Amino acid sequence: MNIIVTGGAGFIGSNFVFHMLEKYPDYRIVCVDALTYAGNLSTLKSVMDNKNFRFVKLDICDREGVYKLFEEEHPDMVVNFAAESHVDRSIENPEIFLQTNIIGTAVLMDACRKYGIKRYHQVSTDEVYGDLPLDRPDLFFHEDTPIHTSSPYSTSKASADLLVMAYHRTYGLPVTVSRCSNNYGPYQFPEKLIPLMIANALADKKLPVYGEGLNVRDWLYVGDHCKAIDLIIHKGTVGEVYNIGGHNEMKNIDIVKLICENLQKPESLIEHVTDRKGHDQRYAIDPTKIHNELGWLPETMFKDGIKMTIQWYLDNKEWWENIISGEYQNYYNEMYGKKEVIG
Ligand code: NAD
Ligand code: DAU
Repeated sequence: MNIIVTGGAGFIGSNFVFHMLEKYPDYRIVCVDALTYAGNLSTLKSVMDNKNFRFVKLDICDREGVYKLFEEEHPDMVVNFAAESHVDRSIENPEIFLQTNIIGTAVLMDACRKYGIKRYHQVSTDEVYGDLPLDRPDLFFHEDTPIHTSSPYSTSKASADLLVMAYHRTYGLPVTVSRCSNNYGPYQFPEKLIPLMIANALADKKLPVYGEGLNVRDWLYVGDHCKAIDLIIHKGTVGEVYNIGGHNEMKNIDIVKLICENLQKPESLIEHVTDRKGHDQRYAIDPTKIHNELGWLPETMFKDGIKMTIQWYLDNKEWWENIISGEYQNYYNEMYGKKEVIG
């Protein structure tokens, strides 16, 4: 099996590359990544010399480059993680999200049509369903919950999902789509809630919680997400969407307090700041379908996963300190400098 994994120098993509190389020693994994601010080649250093691994620096919007790669590699599958993934950045600058997340997806699928493929898998998000009210804990996102997006990011991901399903219906492309809840774990870029709070707490910097911090996210350890995708590409039904989530809903403020507790930092570091525009209230996935059809269940409990993750950031300071010492500082100052303290 020869699999193209796009976005493999990012957070979830790199964890998926590691999972696949370890579990399938006879597979070839070709990682395609444009190495944007979120992609980091040092993340992949442990597999760079693996004879079953190839890294290709390539933008998925580059049609010529993508077609050339398909001619060289004749992939059996494509798993598309490549995306602009941060909601706050999409609110500041939507255009690149439309380009990579929609046009890039179309280019990959055109290549799959032109050269043939056994499976194209689109890594999507629970954010395509919009949000749920905080006072209705009985409601969950099912695969047939209507698409109802909030941010430019989620809209770009939903557009890509619709395009993927259209290529299946119109051209018979053998596709699957997965929609996962919030991931956490090693190699997550420090702009996202959990690594940002860990990095700030370790530096005794303020911990900027948006609004009251009552928004709810459904957290899943990244390794469990990778295992779910592995199952879907091997055993999932073509043309189907699978929700992935671990029934682990937590308020943002509780996550931040837990990080303080684990790092023995005072909660007085917490600062409530201006809320995110259009901030989704609650995400909650119903993963019954993937459990019943493919036997998937999350294996890592949040209480263990968060400890492992904090420990990883403590043990791998060089990885994230390199990131936050560069261009990220400008991003941080610009993004957080204009937020007002509200409590
Ligand atoms: P990430 O931002 O950490 O990584 C994205 C990777 O894609 C980076 O390596 C980047 O260099 C690469 N990339 C960006 N634009 C590219 C382009 N035009 N061509 C080639 N490569 C490009 O993102 P992540 O958190 O690992 O998310 C991966 C995928 O999973 C995304 O599609 C995201 O929508 C989806 N997802 C993420 C989560 C989450 O909690 N992080 C949850 C559900 C779904
Ligand atoms: O649900 C899946 C999605 O999860 C993925 O599709 C996205 O790619 C991924 O980024 C994530 O989106 P969120 O917006 O939920 O993640 P983020 O880590 O940016 O924020 C989580 C929550 O924490 C959200 O309610 C906003 C809040 N937050 C975030 C940051 C960065 C803060 O309160 N302060 C912060 O500084």
